[in-house]
Amino acid sequence: ITVAVRLVVNGKPHDLALDPRVTLLDALRTHLGVTGPKMGCDAGACGACTVLVDGRRVNSCLMLAVAADGKSVVTVEGLAAGDDLNPLQEAFIRHDAFQCGYCTPGQLCSATALLREGVATTPEEIRLWMSGNLCRCGAYPNIVAAIAEVAA
Ligand code: FES
Repeated sequence: ITVAVRLVVNGKPHDLALDPRVTLLDALRTHLGVTGPKMGCDAGACGACTVLVDGRRVNSCLMLAVAADGKSVVTVEGLAAGDDLNPLQEAFIRHDAFQCGYCTPGQLCSATALLREGVATTPEEIRLWMSGNLCRCGAYPNIVAAIAEVAA
């Protein structure tokens, strides 16, 4: 059984026929080749798969693609304007806010939602907001510093 699913990914519409059990993460990576969102735990615990769905952050491993039907999905690939990185991405570079980079797409999407929703500005608030995004390299101080600079 397949169902018709329309995903608007980084502004581009895609019409897919998917098994209803396919997650949004699988739809993005396997069916559309959008590989910015990463699979870490596949269980909602690490945040590597974080994307924005209609502007709100979502662990895409926990959301079925059918639940995102007709919605706008933004991945790390959609954050920059062409070759121009956005201020958050620039701040991540300035503050060296990554080591291996595996968690970075999710960190950036989560931080983008933070900036949009304006709910955290102090380092403590930022750490709390970002607590669902794990970094096995331990780059947390630099991640928080980068976000704090842009959120200020
Ligand atoms: Fe989705 Fe870890 S892969 S939260």
